[in-house]
Amino acid sequence: MSEIIYGNLIAEKYRLKIRDEVARLKASTGKSPALDVVIVGEDPASQIYVRNKEKAAVEAGIRSTVHRLPAETTQTEILTLIEELNLDPEVNGILVQLPLPKKINAPAVVEAVFPSKDVDGFHPVNLGRLMTGERGMIPCTPKGCLKLIKEVREDLTGLSAVVVGRSTIVGKPMAQLLLNENCTVTTAHSKTKNLAEVCRRADVLVVAAGRPRFITDDMVKEGAIVIDVGINRLENGKLCGDVDFESVLPKCAALTPVPKGVGPMTVTMLLDNTVEAFCRQNVIERNL
Ligand code: GUN
Repeated sequence: MSEIIYGNLIAEKYRLKIRDEVARLKASTGKSPALDVVIVGEDPASQIYVRNKEKAAVEAGIRSTVHRLPAETTQTEILTLIEELNLDPEVNGILVQLPLPKKINAPAVVEAVFPSKDVDGFHPVNLGRLMTGERGMIPCTPKGCLKLIKEVREDLTGLSAVVVGRSTIVGKPMAQLLLNENCTVTTAHSKTKNLAEVCRRADVLVVAAGRPRFITDDMVKEGAIVIDVGINRLENGKLCGDVDFESVLPKCAALTPVPKGVGPMTVTMLLDNTVEAFCRQNVIERNL
């Protein structure tokens, strides 16, 4: 029997745990974790993402402040705000919503955030810590994907894992997380030869290709765990993933749907990283 991994339900349970943890932290320290989000310009998708993040933070008891800056804001003005937030002890997590306007040097902005407050896990120091196995901030989407995989199978040692996509936000950190779980990892991408054959080797297949229904049943091993990170809007307005859900589901052990799969876990891991940042900054052991 194939399992549908409903990320929305797993995310909901996890958010309740975070809410309880935040309440306990508030009772013991008198402080609540605080997340500051910086958004520059009017990109409509970014506005929706930021609203969702803010709502989820407030529901979990996390203080949330959104700094909405006009599209004309200069690099210096953005860096000045980040400097202020870095130095403010009341701010535990800083998230700069991407993409930034074209004239802004986005990597310089990402690198300006203190690694200890980088709840996105995009700072090179945190990405480096992921490589060395040191404790750092883990990017939210791959972290959420790993939690979903572990709902199906706790020990991934020795499994063959294939990640389709090599972005810095999803593909590369996902591959590293799976390597840290003792998987044998292949990162496939748009230039990969014999992609179907490569994917068919995967016991764990994570797809972040950005192409609707790209992965079909002939590309999936019988009994694989398949995680679909894609969110594509079809002409009829409906959302679909990078995996052809109908054909792949009967073949695999478990598959995430789109929507209600990875998406809700990403926001949940942002809350988790904010609490993690608060605890580390206040030298508190977490017991979630
Ligand atoms: N834009 C799209 N996804 C993300 C994300 O996870 N974090 C940030 N900061 N910007 C994004």
